[in-house]
Amino acid sequence: MQVAVYAPATSANLSVGFDLLGLAVKRVDGEMLGDIVIVADFKEGDTSLVESSLPAVAFYGKGKFIGKLGNDPDKNLVFAAYKLFKAELDKLNLKVKPLSLTLYKNMPVGSGLGSSSSSSVAALVALNKFHGEPLGKNAMLTLMGELEGLVSGSPHYDNVAPAYLGGLQLMLPAAYPRYQGAPAEPVMVDEQQQTELTVSLPVFSQWIWVLAYPGIVVKTEDARRILPNSYSRREIIAQSSFMAGFVHALYFGDDELAANCLHDYVAEPYRVQLLPNYQELSALLYQAGAKACGISGSGPTYYALTDNYETAEKLRQVFAEHYLQNEEGFIHICETDFDGARVLSEAELERFLREQG
Ligand code: HSE
Repeated sequence: MQVAVYAPATSANLSVGFDLLGLAVKRVDGEMLGDIVIVADFKEGDTSLVESSLPAVAFYGKGKFIGKLGNDPDKNLVFAAYKLFKAELDKLNLKVKPLSLTLYKNMPVGSGLGSSSSSSVAALVALNKFHGEPLGKNAMLTLMGELEGLVSGSPHYDNVAPAYLGGLQLMLPAAYPRYQGAPAEPVMVDEQQQTELTVSLPVFSQWIWVLAYPGIVVKTEDARRILPNSYSRREIIAQSSFMAGFVHALYFGDDELAANCLHDYVAEPYRVQLLPNYQELSALLYQAGAKACGISGSGPTYYALTDNYETAEKLRQVFAEHYLQNEEGFIHICETDFDGARVLSEAELERFLREQG
């Protein structure tokens, strides 16, 4: 038996919702933009990574961006996901089956497109399916948040939630107490109402996101370290106003207002120093017709928003001429991925493996 799961790339923050908003994206040309994890029965010839008294587990790393991760299980999140999943099953008095994990790393690490989330979400969903889905949505999200914390220094859900559930996800207050350094735990008025970690927001189907990865690495941990620990009242009021305006505009179907609310006082002013050519870039994107633009996640991928393909092509051109730094860089025209993590059909997997060569 085997299960192959694809988890899409994600763009976190959307400028206005630092650590609170995350969007799952898919390429409009139909090509995959996300990692795949295959969980299969442990077979003869597989080498187990754990002592023989434990259920056998093998790991294989493949794909265009496996690069420095290689076959070292300690250098990526798939094996960490396995260990967390096994510990969770132990708590339920359930056993993991002997298995192999194969990661196809199709996303560059440190890109701002939720590369680590794509791996960990694909791994956990594949492991859960392989074992008959013993873990529910919140248990899965909690494990995913913990894995994200391993990479970035503090658990946050704005990449894992959309990679898992699809669409545009808003983190709810129940997601807060896990944050390190949160000023105070919110008072739980009604425990039952506070258990959901995230909720799906409506999103405009005409919105097109042009996403440009310049080809350089920015570690999330580093991009978080440079942020201030506190903000002024003026900044808090401005950010809250734009965030509230954005959510209001989504529900009222006002796409102009929603796009005009995509402003960032929390991260972008401090992170632009990590991006090449920033000043010139944003001015050129607006000149080319972008409705909004900003850093995707913790960068260096930059997004530009439009509602038509003609402008999307112009934005692609601006990025190509002013943002790409090397051969590793890429630009993709994307729309919302409403599916999130999904099991690949045999035909899809066969096609993918054929293309891998
Ligand atoms: N909200 C996170 C950040 C996303 O901007 O640091 C990166 O994982």
